Amino acid sequence: MSSTSKPLITVVGATSKQGRSAVHALLQSGRYRVRALTRKTDTPEAKSLAQKGAELVAVPLELGHKKALIEAFRGSSGAFLMTPPMAPGTGEVEVGKQQADAAVEAGVQHLLFTGLENVDKISGGKKYAPHFTEKAQVEEHIRTLPVASSFIYLAYFYTNFVEYYPPRMEGDTVVFPMYLPRDFRAPFVDPLTAAGPAVLEIFSHRDRYAGQTLPVIGELITPQEMVETFQRVTGKKAAYASAFTREELVHHFPQFAGDEGFLREAEGMVQYTVEYGYYRKDRDLEWSRRVDPHAATWEEFLRRTGWQGEPRRFGQEVAEARR
Ligand SMILES: NC(=O)c1ccc[n+]([C@@H]2O[C@H](COP(=O)([O-])OP(=O)(O)OC[C@H]3O[C@@H](n4cnc5c(N)ncnc54)[C@H](OP(=O)(O)O)[C@@H]3O)[C@@H](O)[C@H]2O)c1
Repeated sequence: MSSTSKPLITVVGATSKQGRSAVHALLQSGRYRVRALTRKTDTPEAKSLAQKGAELVAVPLELGHKKALIEAFRGSSGAFLMTPPMAPGTGEVEVGKQQADAAVEAGVQHLLFTGLENVDKISGGKKYAPHFTEKAQVEEHIRTLPVASSFIYLAYFYTNFVEYYPPRMEGDTVVFPMYLPRDFRAPFVDPLTAAGPAVLEIFSHRDRYAGQTLPVIGELITPQEMVETFQRVTGKKAAYASAFTREELVHHFPQFAGDEGFLREAEGMVQYTVEYGYYRKDRDLEWSRRVDPHAATWEEFLRRTGWQGEPRRFGQEVAEARR
């Protein structure tokens, strides 16, 4: 297949953890051309994608840029869509719909959106987790569009404990304040390596996956097991501390005090997870492991990244180290 005859897939949020993984898997397959959408083409992350063969296009995801998005999607046979981290009620639904509408207007035939469960519906309105439910509302919209669509739902990211809820040293012990109860088993994943194989599989078998929603999981693991694994892999003494309740979360991360929107959502999300499960009961939790038998466990994530508990952002340098 000549390079111009390969189908073009456009990846929204291409420099994100999920986006980078998608770009790399598609390019590495040798079967696709990839267009990478980013706000800035001169960042190290964007340049690295270009070096690997992606075509970079600068376009904002915010509302009001639909025309630019239509142009950015032009000529693509598939599009990977994602909404960036946004505060509740600041337009995640509209940002997601705008991408999808633009892709359809540009003639894209298959949309793959990275979403999450509709917590509002599953909990009968009892739990507040807008960054889940708003993605589900984007999905509902996409399902009304006259194109094929598929959806992946990533589990909790391993990187959350590195980037957003980092551990701290207490004497000789690395203390992990974790937002789930000590022995609660939950799905986790490495977004830097797990999103790509799922995206590649779906675009490679479009008919099979049209209309489907597929969880992407590295492993089901408890916080206590994560701490024990960290101890075994790094040789450092480690301990679990509960950050499950709002009070505990603020105690361990005082920077969140007063951020009512964040605290309400954090509380709603973890209560939802414990009471209803992260995924709706009928989801196929084995799918991503069948597609990618090498999906990283927490232990493999720790070994490959060499993370020892220090503050770290999962920018390009870590993604590079993983390959
Ligand atoms: N953390 C979890 O456990 C978890 C689990 C499942 C799903 N999610 C969802 O995953 C999504 C985040 O994915 P990720 O972690 O892969 O993304 P990420 O690494 O945080 O990167 C977000 C990307 O979005 C792009 N972006 C465009 N407009 C933006 C804006 N206005 N503000 C911030 N970024 C913007 C940025 O790229 P440019 O700067 O290049 O434009 C950036 O690379 C969120 O929607 C989150 O809800 C998270």
